[in-house]
Amino acid sequence: MLGIDNFKFIHLSEVDSTNVYAKSLILKEKTDNFIVIADTQTSGKTTKSNSVWDSPIGNLYFTMAVRIGKDYKKFTHLLSFLVALSLVESVKSISNSDVDIRIKWPNDVLLNVKKLSGILIEQEGDYSIIGIGVNIAHHPKNINIKYPTTSLADANINTTPAEFANILAKRIIQNLNFFINDNFKSLVERIKPYMYNINKIVYLSFNNQNFKGIFENIDSNGAIVIKTDSGVMSFLSAELTKENFI
Ligand code: BTN
Repeated sequence: MLGIDNFKFIHLSEVDSTNVYAKSLILKEKTDNFIVIADTQTSGKTTKSNSVWDSPIGNLYFTMAVRIGKDYKKFTHLLSFLVALSLVESVKSISNSDVDIRIKWPNDVLLNVKKLSGILIEQEGDYSIIGIGVNIAHHPKNINIKYPTTSLADANINTTPAEFANILAKRIIQNLNFFINDNFKSLVERIKPYMYNINKIVYLSFNNQNFKGIFENIDSNGAIVIKTDSGVMSFLSAELTKENFI
């Protein structure tokens, strides 16, 4: 059983990227499980190679490096759902019961239908590198960004990066213990109630092709299943877009 005490805790004032730092630490010294947080990042990584994660002081930049064991390697693709669920549960634990917190497939967490956080999971040897950025005090306000964003402060949810890091780390560890024990069988069912636009028409882009259909399900592999005019299709990775496919 993993516990928070199994994690070494590293706090940096500034770093290029907490994920890059975690990977180099693993290569340098085979450190045990650890969590690194930074007050700010100079080139925070995103899921896209051509953009950086906006990292002003006041938000959370968090990377957890965890060895989940060889037997569970086959589930690493489901980790991002576990992390999204942990984020949702962490936010719920510090807000009113009517908070509108949902997951946009595959793993964007939306607060009041605006993006609150980003998740970037990478592998380094035996380790899963779980990188999470959470808009606590600020959010990008650039009108050119594709999707509206928000912060916890914007929704009057008051916390600090350090406090939220602690809540989130404990929740991820609790969920890792639970879902590893459960062989990840119930994870997809646990996230479905939070899924944004399930049973509704969605627009999806994959390999420069666009698709429209009803978001029917998420299968046991985590793939999105949509019913299009030409039949049922499933995608393990794709991007849900707006109606006009931008
Ligand atoms: C996304 O594209 O939505 C994922 C963004 C992930 C950003 C976080 S911030 C902490 C961690 N370190 C990084 O360099 N990236 C992740």
